[in-house]
Amino acid sequence: MRRYRNRGAAPIARALLLALTGIILCGFGEAMAESAAKQILITLPPMGWSSWNSFSNTVNSEIVMAQAKAMISTGMAKAGYRYINIDEGWWLGERDADGNIVVDAKAWPALAPGERAGDMANIVRYIHSLGLKAGIYTDAGNDGCSMYPDLGSVYQHTGSEGHYERDLLQFAKWGFDYVKVDWCGGDKEKLDPAVQYAEISRAISMAESATGHPLFFSICEWGKDSPWTWAPSVGRAVADIWRTSGDIVTPIVAHNKFSGRLASFPGVLSNFDQGVHPEAQHTGYYNDPDMMVIGMPGLADAQNRTHMSLWAISGAPLLVGADLTKLSDTTLATLTNPEVLAVDQDALGLQGVKVATYGDGLEVWSKALSTPGARALLLLNRTGEAASITVNWNDLGLADSTSATVRDVWAHDDLGSLNGSYSTVVPALDAVMLIVHGSERNRTEYAPDGSGTGMANGTIMRRNRLVNFTQVASHVPMARVRIAYINSDNVPRFEELRVNGRTATRIAFPPTGSDPAVGTVWIESQLDRPGTNNVLSFSTNCDQGPVIVSISVE
Ligand code: GLA
Repeated sequence: MRRYRNRGAAPIARALLLALTGIILCGFGEAMAESAAKQILITLPPMGWSSWNSFSNTVNSEIVMAQAKAMISTGMAKAGYRYINIDEGWWLGERDADGNIVVDAKAWPALAPGERAGDMANIVRYIHSLGLKAGIYTDAGNDGCSMYPDLGSVYQHTGSEGHYERDLLQFAKWGFDYVKVDWCGGDKEKLDPAVQYAEISRAISMAESATGHPLFFSICEWGKDSPWTWAPSVGRAVADIWRTSGDIVTPIVAHNKFSGRLASFPGVLSNFDQGVHPEAQHTGYYNDPDMMVIGMPGLADAQNRTHMSLWAISGAPLLVGADLTKLSDTTLATLTNPEVLAVDQDALGLQGVKVATYGDGLEVWSKALSTPGARALLLLNRTGEAASITVNWNDLGLADSTSATVRDVWAHDDLGSLNGSYSTVVPALDAVMLIVHGSERNRTEYAPDGSGTGMANGTIMRRNRLVNFTQVASHVPMARVRIAYINSDNVPRFEELRVNGRTATRIAFPPTGSDPAVGTVWIESQLDRPGTNNVLSFSTNCDQGPVIVSISVE
């Protein structure tokens, strides 16, 4: 293990030079370059609307068109919301003799001259015509959740088991951009979700190759079988999200027997808490605490704002469950605050972590942002009384000897430049969201043990299937780790990372360009061993991993 202080391209170049000797055991050729490491773009968490929370099984073409129009007229599309996602209820389980899905022609009529009623491509064309993207829904099992309908009749066989390739290809051919795959049938049949969702992911890739049309993958297994341990890159998905908990609310459908149901703030907090798995959220893979209930009956304006802050500090998918045609101006302002959306959509794609707790229920959450020295903070008061909460720069991984600017992103207010810490009173069951901008503490950079790379004929080669970094130290238990790597292929390559022999997560390494440039991606790892006792092991198939050049740790 070699250890370097400070950041920048020089240690990386040095690490490459240190790798010049040794037998090439396995690997692939890479041309050598000494360019500076650049942050590689990853897929950001999806933003949009879903039909389930406000329309349950009653969803149809008319409802979807009205919501799509409202996404434009409310300014939500301008703020970044894109997906119009059709959830359960669109299909009643019928297939033709060849096994193709057949839908109710009345619910999904022709919308333009020349269209055929009962063709889901009609609604997709409409959504696309507004510049939006369209999402669809199925189940991994044979029967879908329509066997336990929230409203209306029971329908069997609303799942895709036995038809994964056919159905996913159909969705892509219809033009959908997003697919949510539920787990009612899989659960009933006691299937293994890691296996089923990997198969579905492969069916998605095949559909994408056949049609040239990308389908974003949303896994909905409610956190039952710890999806954060297997869902990142399942079946080699280049990006995906996975639900981490049950439903945040049972649907509240207007003018209906369940119209009196209410969303609850404890439910929001519970889904937030169950969604915290920062070690799995990286390189385009996201924990999904569920569609939001902002703007639905049951939450006050301040609770809606806190809900939005919780999802943003998590870097969670932002899928609105409310009826977009009925949002109040205050709710709309909550959903479209650009500073809060920028926290959620930050380019590092990391999840916020709890960095301080005071007594029972006063907490500081911090999300590292891509601007060096910047952190989004949530000062959360779970208690029934207003209380003062203090943020220490030291807890944020910032140099505490220097001053940092503080901004309140809900009040759009600069609170000045402060040394070492900031305190403010947070009302009962409420939160304050801030951006603190200070100076990063120096990170320590490490080259792989025994040098993970080698040179042959002017190209950098990966030497081993296993690349180890031992004797790694960290200032904080949940540390940010920047990985410098080279992937001059034109598709992502993958690595399994094991930390202290314990946590495993699969990381995507997108192409770094053909210079080849050194690129960087960020992860969060639980480096909880004292001193320099932490061990990070990357492993891959011989012909598929990137060259891991170095890691740097806060
Ligand atoms: C499950 C999911 C919900 C929704 C319903 C549809 O409960 O968790 O998000 O898709 O199914 O029945």
